[in-house]
Amino acid sequence: MPSSSFLHSILLVSTLCFSGTLAGAESDFDWRKLHASKTLHWTPCYSAPLQCALLQVPMDYNAPQNEVTASIAIVRYPSTSPKSQYRGPLLFNPGGPGGSGVDAIVGAGAQFAMVFGEQFDVVGFDPRGVSYSTPTISFFKTEAERRFLIPSATNVLYSSFNASSSSLADTYASMQLLGQLAIANDPNGYLQHMSTDNIARDMLSITEAFGFEKLQYWGVSYGSVLGATFATLFPDKVGRLIIDGVEDMNAYYTANFTNDMLDTDKSMDTFYSGCAQAGPQACAFHAPTASQVAANLAALTASIKAQPIAVLTPQSHGILDYVFLRNAVLDALFDPYNSFAALAEGLAVLASGNATLLYAQNEVPTFECDCTVPAPKFHENNFEAYMAIACGDAVPVNDTLAQLQQFYEDGLKVSASFADLLLTTRVLCAGYKIRREGKFTGPVGAKNTSFPLLLVGNTFDPVTPHANAVKTSLLFPGSAVLTQDSVGHTTLVATSDCTFSYYRAYFVNGTLPAPGTVCSVDAELFPSSDPTAANGTAKRTTESLDDIKIREAASRIGSVVRKVLRRAL
Ligand SMILES: *[C@@H]1O[C@H](CO)[C@@H](O)[C@H](O)[C@H]1NC(C)=O
Ligand SMILES: *[C@@H]1O[C@H](CO)[C@@H](O)[C@H](O)[C@H]1NC(C)=O
Ligand SMILES: *[C@@H]1O[C@H](CO)[C@@H](O)[C@H](O)[C@H]1NC(C)=O
Ligand SMILES: *[C@@H]1O[C@H](CO)[C@@H](O)[C@H](O)[C@H]1NC(C)=O
Ligand SMILES: *[C@@H]1O[C@H](CO)[C@@H](O)[C@H](O)[C@H]1NC(C)=O
Ligand SMILES: *[C@@H]1O[C@H](CO)[C@@H](O)[C@H](O)[C@H]1NC(C)=O
Ligand SMILES: *[C@@H]1O[C@H](CO)[C@@H](O)[C@H](O)[C@H]1NC(C)=O
Repeated sequence: MPSSSFLHSILLVSTLCFSGTLAGAESDFDWRKLHASKTLHWTPCYSAPLQCALLQVPMDYNAPQNEVTASIAIVRYPSTSPKSQYRGPLLFNPGGPGGSGVDAIVGAGAQFAMVFGEQFDVVGFDPRGVSYSTPTISFFKTEAERRFLIPSATNVLYSSFNASSSSLADTYASMQLLGQLAIANDPNGYLQHMSTDNIARDMLSITEAFGFEKLQYWGVSYGSVLGATFATLFPDKVGRLIIDGVEDMNAYYTANFTNDMLDTDKSMDTFYSGCAQAGPQACAFHAPTASQVAANLAALTASIKAQPIAVLTPQSHGILDYVFLRNAVLDALFDPYNSFAALAEGLAVLASGNATLLYAQNEVPTFECDCTVPAPKFHENNFEAYMAIACGDAVPVNDTLAQLQQFYEDGLKVSASFADLLLTTRVLCAGYKIRREGKFTGPVGAKNTSFPLLLVGNTFDPVTPHANAVKTSLLFPGSAVLTQDSVGHTTLVATSDCTFSYYRAYFVNGTLPAPGTVCSVDAELFPSSDPTAANGTAKRTTESLDDIKIREAASRIGSVVRKVLRRAL
């Protein structure tokens, strides 16, 4: 098997840069010391005041008396309210599927508590099979085999149907192999139980282990599927439920992500128009009109496709090719306020013939692997978790190659700019054959939930368009939709006092925003470098210290969760 082309054809859902504060904290606690039990036994972990516990849950909720169990890793930032005001656990899921809720709360527990209210225990958990929860999902016998087939040190999140004439067929074959390895390495039949309906049941088990009846929850991205599935299965157990970055539920459960691309091209357009308007100071890839910026990027992309560039930096080395470049641009759309200006600079330098900057912006450490470690390595299974949960949840995909090609061509009508990357997910699911009989596959929705849901969408989100929040809201009568006027994936892309004040009012007081409420954000796509221009500092002078603290907390939550999400996507 030709390894390099094989690696490239894999849709990679694994580690990008993941370093700094989080990585340090993670290594500080050994989850293997804990014993799982049916009640919560808290142990101090990471840094005070965090506490950890392992909750034992049935592997199969249809056979709860069965001896085979799963262990859910749970961390809490405890409430500091007096007992009389204590409101129980507030669970968070950062998306993926495969994102670690533990990492999110370890990274920003104090800030969650500050924003949502100290009445709550802020709770992060790793869904069954994911990260510190066991059994760990793995398709491989050794870490070396895993790293050979799924290099976690790569800057390529998605493959592209447009990389070459054989891309689709190569990706299809690679995914068939991974799907067969999943079966071959699952002798106990655990993988069929790693499904969103069971994760929803686990969330109820966690809530009940705290001594509460109803779920309080905030979920972003895939966390929206988890939240909406919970509300479908347990409509009378909804205490408070916010979903943000809402997926198309039918799209998710049919592995057809076409409708998730409704705003992808509009998101891309904000780069072109924003750059044209910002001027050459703020946008290094500037041209006088949006269509000229677009044409310049297309020409640059074509030249890289014709001639990829080798790059060596002090930290690593690699090749900046078509798929790398396309991923760098798509990645910036997820987090535009923090990425657009840097992307423009990387592109401008690349256009002058120097690939180093754009490469370095998306750099990960040079491949290294301890070949002796048996798989699975604890806390390193994002790709397998994604494939097992997202594809195991969906109805079987039996498409022929010709049908998949047609599916891609139809998808180009929805997103001409990124269907070639985003729709590779269906090909991934075509390889995965493990599904539990009788598991939930939809339809999502409930006539009456015990508390109304709050759904939140950005004006232009490249992978969870605003229309999804509206559509999903119709499946839950009484629910409300809040709009954040921003570009990027989930409301965490930029700080908005307004959005967070609605979150807080919902959790603390049960207040829903009025229909049609739109929140603005405190951020610019291409920040002005002109010091005389109006800026955030001026309009903030009348604020209280609390407002400022909450904004800083919200900003920290945003950056921590973005990192977890980026790692899990
Ligand atoms: C595919 O690549 C070609 C260049 O080889 C380009 O002209 C075309 O626009 C690309 N299609 C998509 C959907 O990106
Ligand atoms: C995928 O979804 C789109 C949009 O709803 C639809 O037009 C298309 O027929 C679907 N394709 C498949 C293979 O289900
Ligand atoms: C390429 O760009 C990088 C970063 O901007 C710079 O450090 C380096 O000197 C450049 N290399 C060449 C050969 O110009
Ligand atoms: C795919 O094949 C499976 C088993 O062969 C079958 O049960 C299922 O209905 C098929 N799915 C579709 C969408 O045709
Ligand atoms: C919805 O359920 C709640 C209890 O969960 C009940 O009080 C209410 O009457 C129900 N509303 C409708 C319209 O059925
Ligand atoms: C909750 O309601 C009370 C009483 O109306 C109000 O004083 C408080 O500011 C509200 N809290 C939030 C977070 O909205
Ligand atoms: C903008 O903020 C900077 C500090 O970050 C400050 O020096 C400058 O005076 C501000 N400009 C205006 C117009 O308020």
